[in-house]
Amino acid sequence: MKNYDVRDLTLAKEGKLRIDWAGKEMPVVNLIKERFAGKSPWRECVFLPASISPRKRPIWRLALKEGGAEVVLCASNPLSTQDDVAAALVDYGIPVNAIRGEDNETYYQHIITALEHKPQITMDDGADLVSTLHKDYTDLAANVIGGTEETTTGVIRLRNMARAGKLIYPIIAVNDAQTKHFFDNRYGTGQSTIDGITRATNILWAGRKVVVCGYGWCGKGIARRAQGLGALVIVTEVQPIPALEAAMDGYQVMPLIKACEIGEVFITTTGDTTSLIRHTSCR
Ligand SMILES: NC(=O)c1ccc[n+]([C@@H]2O[C@H](COP(=O)([O-])OP(=O)(O)OC[C@H]3O[C@@H](n4cnc5c(N)ncnc54)[C@H](O)[C@@H]3O)[C@@H](O)[C@H]2O)c1
Repeated sequence: MKNYDVRDLTLAKEGKLRIDWAGKEMPVVNLIKERFAGKSPWRECVFLPASISPRKRPIWRLALKEGGAEVVLCASNPLSTQDDVAAALVDYGIPVNAIRGEDNETYYQHIITALEHKPQITMDDGADLVSTLHKDYTDLAANVIGGTEETTTGVIRLRNMARAGKLIYPIIAVNDAQTKHFFDNRYGTGQSTIDGITRATNILWAGRKVVVCGYGWCGKGIARRAQGLGALVIVTEVQPIPALEAAMDGYQVMPLIKACEIGEVFITTTGDTTSLIRHTSCR
């Protein structure tokens, strides 16, 4: 019986090429994968990672499989799934439930389908998966040993749940690792945001007035890269220290209402509404 839902399995060949290419830049995961081979430390453990993207994450999923784990996949964001990579992972024997651009209903249905595999470890990126489990499938939580959460917004959501006494199992805040926020958020998202906007709009950055809202880890990376391409970067911030840092890094800093009058490209890197509420008093 079909245990996956992806756009098109014929894309698997291209997806495998992408995964192989990404794997060349991941020597540590490849070493771990080799160490797992034949030992099956994760035998009978069901992992439910959310996210089929970026292309490097599938290497981790395959390493877990090599370690004997049953791995089931859904998306962490309806827009970030790479359909070819999803097809390739199905070919490698991983049930994937994710289609790029799926509507909200399908996105959550895919999360529910993945949850039906009764995971013991969840690996989330934004906390939609964990929130769904906590909201409608609490009976599954008894089976879960723990989880991981990748990104800033997800960590904020889960910390709120923990504070309210509503987080049922322990979750590692991956974003708290310096090797995550210092490098992935700043340099990775810095590059991929500029790349994504360029591909979507084909704009010339030089001379462009670019407003970066939020001067946190991602904001710093994006601002630096936009400036490097010749853009005039304007930063908006609600906290005084990052606002001052942005000014000393050489950007114009002003309230959003003023930036709206002159900006041509607006990039929001503020996180979710919770962080907005947390910082409102600093305006
Ligand atoms: N797609 C990816 O690859 C990726 C990777 C990392 C982070 N993220 C996401 O990017 C977002 C930012 O992450 P981060 O690590 O840079 O967070 P961060 O907490 O380091 O930075 C957010 C900044 O925004 C500021 N801010 C909050 N509300 C604001 C407002 N209304 N106006 C102006 N400034 C405001 C905060 O003061 C803070 O300095 C999060 O949603 C995170 O989950 C995405």
